Amino acid sequence: MKAFPKTFLWGGAIAANQVEGAWLEDGKGVSTSDLQPNGVLSDTVERKPGDFGLKDIAIDFYHRYPEDIALFAEMGFSCLRVSIAWTRIFPNGDETQPNEAGLAYYDRLFDELAKHNITPMVTLSHYEMPWGLVKNYGGWGNRETITFFERYARTVFTRFKSKVKLWLTFNEINMALHAPMTGVGISETSSKAEIYQAIHHQLVASALAVKACHEIIPDARIGNMLLGGLVYPLSCKPEDVLETMQENRNWLFFGDVQCRGEYPGYMLRYFRDNGIKLEISESDREALKATIDFISFSYYMSGCVTADEELNEKARGNILNMVPNPHLASSEWGWQIDPIGLRILLNKLWDRYQKPLFIVENGLGAKDKLEADGTVHDDYRISYLNDHLVQVREAIEDGVEVLGYTCWGPIDLVSASKAELSKRYGFIYVDRDDKGNGTLARSRKKSFNWYKEVIATNGASL
Ligand code: BG6
Repeated sequence: MKAFPKTFLWGGAIAANQVEGAWLEDGKGVSTSDLQPNGVLSDTVERKPGDFGLKDIAIDFYHRYPEDIALFAEMGFSCLRVSIAWTRIFPNGDETQPNEAGLAYYDRLFDELAKHNITPMVTLSHYEMPWGLVKNYGGWGNRETITFFERYARTVFTRFKSKVKLWLTFNEINMALHAPMTGVGISETSSKAEIYQAIHHQLVASALAVKACHEIIPDARIGNMLLGGLVYPLSCKPEDVLETMQENRNWLFFGDVQCRGEYPGYMLRYFRDNGIKLEISESDREALKATIDFISFSYYMSGCVTADEELNEKARGNILNMVPNPHLASSEWGWQIDPIGLRILLNKLWDRYQKPLFIVENGLGAKDKLEADGTVHDDYRISYLNDHLVQVREAIEDGVEVLGYTCWGPIDLVSASKAELSKRYGFIYVDRDDKGNGTLARSRKKSFNWYKEVIATNGASL
C-alpha cells in the first residue's frame, strides 16, 4: 500500500500578524501589516488614531496559545509552523539591543509546543516588517535593511537554538512582484528596477540568514518559502507554452537563486532586455552562495497563461493575473481548485532542484456556518484537503522527497489578502466576525476529527 514516510511531519501553519493580536503589547513596534487594515494587497500604509484593525486582536493567540496548542495536540500535530513578529524583537528595526519581552514570549510559545511534542517550524518574516525601517530607510530598497535583518536573524537563532531546528527565511518571497509594500516595504508604484533591487537585497539577506543559521545551529535545517504559482498553457500553441514558461520562471527565479546561489541566465537576459541594472556587489555574490537545505512552498490553486493579450487583459485583477482554467471549479474567492496540480508541482520542484520539499501551506478559505451545537459541517474543506493529500501521496510514490505538510490556518485566522475573518480555513472555529464581534471562543469543526484520523493513521485513512 502507498504510504507516507514514518518521519513525515503533520500539522498546520499560522503567521504572527494573522493570529497573535496584542499589536502594541510588551514593547512591540508597529509593523507594515499593522498599517494594512484592508490586507496585504492594498497599498494603505497608514491609519488614523481610533481606526479599527481586525488584526489588532486577531484571534488573540498571543494570550490563548496554550488552549490552541492543546487543540492542535489533540489532533495529533507533530509540527506547527509559526512566524516571529520582527517588531516584537526589534520594535523599529534599527535598535542594537533586542526587546526582552518579545523574546520571552516566543520562549513561552516554544516551550508550550515542546510540552506537546510538537516541532516548531519558524518563519523569520511573514508578510510584515518594522514600519520604522520603511519610514526611515525605505524598506528593502535600502541595502542597510540587510544588516538590520541579519542582526534580527542572528538574535533569534542564538536565543532559540536549543528549541527550534526548522527555519524558513521569507514567506512567499516571490509575492514581492505582486505586492511590493508587503514583500519588500516599497510603494506599489515602484518601477520594476526598484522592485528587483529591493528583491536582490532580500535575497542576499535570506542567504546571510542561511549562513548564520548553519553557524549558530549546526543541527538545524533552513529553507526558503515560495508561493507555488503553478501555471499551465491555456492551449498547445507554442506562443502560449513559451509565455507559460516565462510566467513560471517569474517565481521559480527566486528558488533558482536560493538553491543554486546565483542568478540564472534567463533573468540576466530579462534585466538586459528591460534596461534594469542591478547593483550587485562582490560580497553580495559571495553571500548568495549560502544555499538553502530544503524548499518550502504554499499551494492553493493553479491557473492558465496565454499569449493572447485580450484574454490576459480580462484576467487582470485576480491575485496573480492568471487566466481561468475552464476545467476547474473555484472556491468562493475565485481560487481554482486543482489537487493534481499539487502532484505536478511537487514533481516539478523535485526534478528541478533535487532538494527535500515541505508543503507549508495548503487549504480552502470558505464561509462556515456555525450550528447550534457548536460544530461546523465543513465537508467541502475535508474534500479539498483529502484530494490534495492523496496527490501528495502520489508524488511521494513518484519518488519525490516530501518532509511534511502543514495546512494553512488549522484554526480560523485573519486572512492575508483582504484582512477578513469570514474567509475561514480552520479545523477550529473562532467566534469572531469581520467587524470584531464575538467571544473568541474556540470550537471543533467536523474537519477536526477528520484530520485527527488522517494523522493517527499516517495518511492511510485518506
Ligand atoms: C498565503 C500567505 O499567501 O496565503 C498567508 O502566506 C495567507 O499568509 C494565505 O493567509 C491565504 O491567503 P488569504 O488571503 O486567503 O488569507
